[in-house]
Amino acid sequence: MRCRACLSLVLFLLILPGMAVYAASGGDLKGTHDYEEFEKPQACRQCHQDIFRQWEQSMMSQAYTHHWDEVEYFELAVAHTENDPNVPAEVHEGCNGCHAPLAFMAGDVPPPRPGESRADESVSCEVCHTITGKAEGTPFNFSWTIEPGKDKRAQRSPDEVTKSPHHNMVQSDFHRTTEFCGTCHNEQSPYGVMVKATQIELLEGPYGDEGVRCQDCHMTYSEGRSARIGSKHDDVAQHLFHGGHDPGKVNGVVELRIHPDIREVVIGEPVQFTLALFNQKTGHKFPTGSVEDRLLWVEVEAVDADGNAYHLPVDKKGFDGEEFTIASDELAYTDMSVPLNDPGFKGVRRDGHVPVGDRIFRMPYLNPDGEITIMQWHTASFGVDYRMGPRETKLETYTFDVPFEAAPGEMTVTATMYYALLVPTVADLLGAPEEGEPMLVNTHSTTVTVLD
Ligand code: HEC
Ligand code: HEC
Ligand code: HEC
Ligand code: HEC
Ligand code: HEC
Repeated sequence: MRCRACLSLVLFLLILPGMAVYAASGGDLKGTHDYEEFEKPQACRQCHQDIFRQWEQSMMSQAYTHHWDEVEYFELAVAHTENDPNVPAEVHEGCNGCHAPLAFMAGDVPPPRPGESRADESVSCEVCHTITGKAEGTPFNFSWTIEPGKDKRAQRSPDEVTKSPHHNMVQSDFHRTTEFCGTCHNEQSPYGVMVKATQIELLEGPYGDEGVRCQDCHMTYSEGRSARIGSKHDDVAQHLFHGGHDPGKVNGVVELRIHPDIREVVIGEPVQFTLALFNQKTGHKFPTGSVEDRLLWVEVEAVDADGNAYHLPVDKKGFDGEEFTIASDELAYTDMSVPLNDPGFKGVRRDGHVPVGDRIFRMPYLNPDGEITIMQWHTASFGVDYRMGPRETKLETYTFDVPFEAAPGEMTVTATMYYALLVPTVADLLGAPEEGEPMLVNTHSTTVTVLD
């Protein structure tokens, strides 16, 4: 099996000179472990009931079965390798290394559609708890080492070794590190660029300096029992893994405060509003991870005393690549024409339904032709990085000429930040509209008086 992986690596490099490949990291795990070597999560449920139910509600248990994942995998990634001879099968096979590790290790790639195999177990208990460490250097592309089915099903955890009637236990410091998460939360594209860098972003930011880890915000610790028949501990790791799919986690990530330069304004004259945005909650950038899919933006609206609404576009700052950070109505993502088998595909609106002129906090992913793409495996470079860094404050200004028709009296100006997990126009095109629903991040208002 390992030799076959080597051979395909060689072939792959011949086909696409200059491209790195998943096989450079965890790729040689393909076909090394049967499904039977892993116990099903249901086997853990009877004793670890709370942890099982938490995991079941998180995206970890749905990494393969979740609707948008199924759509992107089959309609875009698999289809891309089928329709373009320059995109080898390794590209879609590698997705499973993180999303359906059991199937990848069993060599069952592409796995059957959700509902038909153990690929559905996604990131299961035993995947994480039989991982033993990682390859050297920065972790990425499932570069973990793993020993399933050995040593009476040893479960690895950082806690000091306790006793279980069901399995052995091996103490593992690795499970307490950010590198453990980074094996799947850093991803390198076949063009050698880091299309996911959540763990790297954490290390480079203030939380990394302070030793704050992923587990501190996504697997928070509480007093209780980890197993019903176990003893009480004061730091049981909750398996929440709550992120972008939990509106409560997204809510309040960025705090907004808006103020005018003058309080009393004369019709026809400009007033400038300054908006301060403070990222108070994420340890990495916001958005992080699947940045190619996500849309984070702010809308600013003024409402006069008669209830007439006016939209305020953001003032341009003039930095390189800024055009990607200000909503426009241009069409984009035409590289989907290959997987969709639609040569006449004209693209869909790049910025979803975001009002033209609004600020978008993003880093565009660019394909080998320099065009924006949502296909991270087809990403060769990036545009400007205008995301919200951890604990970063950004200032935006909005210069507004109060229009002649504005009613005298109090005018309320409101800034509202929204987050969509997938560019809504792409979500609609591909039949996953639920993924494009905007979530409220935060909002703040100020007032000015429009003089007679
Ligand atoms: C190195 C591990 C890794 C590889 C390889 C990988 N992914 Fe992912 N993928 C992730 C992680 C981690 C997330 C979650 C990031 C986030 O929430 O922002 C994710 C998120 C996604 C999402 C968004 C899910 C959602 O519900 O919004 C899709 C779709 C997806 N991946 C598809 C793919 C496809 C298709 C491939 C192969 C071309 C692939 N992934 C390869 C780790 C990986
Ligand atoms: C200081 C707290 C904090 C730390 C530390 C932290 N996160 Fe997060 N994370 C958040 C918050 C808040 C969100 C919700 C906002 C968002 O979706 O980005 C989030 C979101 C996410 C998401 C979903 C991103 C999306 O919207 O698609 C992933 C994936 C993630 N975190 C993984 C990690 C990993 C891996 C680490 C460690 C390398 C980590 N986080 C460290 C607070 C944290
Ligand atoms: C028959 C009951 C039982 C089953 C089934 C079971 N466990 Fe356990 N497990 C325990 C007990 C008891 C402990 C010790 C809890 C304590 O620390 O008090 C434990 C501890 C653990 C620990 C280490 C926790 C620590 O405190 O160090 C991990 C990790 C773990 N189990 C994972 C699993 C996984 C994964 C499965 C399913 C493949 C599983 N267990 C199935 C009873 C069980
Ligand atoms: C994405 C990886 C991942 C998955 C999936 C996962 N775990 Fe864990 N688990 C961890 C890590 C990491 C820790 C240790 C966290 C810490 O202590 O810092 C842990 C800790 C535990 C503990 C010890 C809790 C404590 O603090 O005493 C038990 C028990 C456990 N896991 C059982 C399970 C079971 C059962 C499942 C499936 C229902 C599961 N885990 C799924 C990563 C995972
Ligand atoms: C074996 C690979 C793997 C490991 C190890 C792993 N993850 Fe993930 N994680 C994934 C995948 C794949 C997804 C994307 C699920 C989906 O398709 O939406 C994900 C999603 C997430 C999300 C996003 C949930 C959401 O609502 O969008 C968070 C948060 C997260 N992981 C945190 C962690 C943390 C913290 C660790 C380390 C303790 C960790 N992960 C370790 C593979 C992994």
